[in-house]
Amino acid sequence: MIGKKWLPALSALVIAAGITTGGGAAFAKEKHKDILNVSHRGASGHAPEHTLVSYDMGEKMHGDYIEVDLQMTKDGQLIAMHDETVDRTTDGTGYVKDMTLADIKALDAGSWFNEKNPAYANEEYVGLQVPTLEEVFQKFGKNNSYYIETKSPTIYPGMEKELLRLVNKYNINKDKLLVQSFSADSLKIMHGLDPSVKLVQLMSYGSNATITDEQIAQIKAYAMGIGPNHTYLNEAYIQKVVNNGLEIHPYTVNDKERMSQLIEWGVTGMFTNFPDLLHEVKKGK
Ligand code: G3P
Ligand code: CA
Repeated sequence: MIGKKWLPALSALVIAAGITTGGGAAFAKEKHKDILNVSHRGASGHAPEHTLVSYDMGEKMHGDYIEVDLQMTKDGQLIAMHDETVDRTTDGTGYVKDMTLADIKALDAGSWFNEKNPAYANEEYVGLQVPTLEEVFQKFGKNNSYYIETKSPTIYPGMEKELLRLVNKYNINKDKLLVQSFSADSLKIMHGLDPSVKLVQLMSYGSNATITDEQIAQIKAYAMGIGPNHTYLNEAYIQKVVNNGLEIHPYTVNDKERMSQLIEWGVTGMFTNFPDLLHEVKKGK
């Protein structure tokens, strides 16, 4: 028979065993609910990327964050667009940096999608406009969750300052704001301007992903997480990043099996063109 004095120790043992066995599975199961579902360029598998319609659809499909890529016009306006040129996602041609906002607003940012994706085509996409960041903030409000990328920051000096000006102008909730970039310099500028803005360092691997302790320490000096392309990730990499206190949000994951695998490996979120699929995967865990 176990004496009373041993009961607390026994309870602790039972709890510890639970965490490493059945309890651990339950804990991990709960954790899946926290995986950030980032609508990449909006629900861009379903609708033309970086349009208000695509962002809206992302929300309706249970995306937690609206992902916005930024380019800057000749007259200094931040617009939502992935490429430096308008060629791929509008009916126009040319570099954003050489065009005014009025030039950009004259373009059709929806028809290309219908031509490229007949299965998802919708007449309502014809004639959609490229939104400014201001219009995104106006439509989705200060308490929404935004995951904003400074694209091509060397082409657009001062874009970080303008981004921060708009964040402050629209009183965007900084607890729900993430700023991302492939450029460490751009993130460090943002960190210098306002250390309270949470940052994510994007990374691109062309083969098996590895990360050193030194790299992790360098990134942790300004960022709270990393965003690597998912293709070459492995469990050890993800575990190393997470165990060192960084978030990890791989891009761009559009396949349910891969979503599930990455969740099992310990990612804390991911970018997807199909937030509806990630929602289903999370529900099924
Ligand atoms: O921002 C995450 C991911 O979007 C990075 O790649 O080229 O789609 O902006 P890209
Ligand atoms: Ca992006």
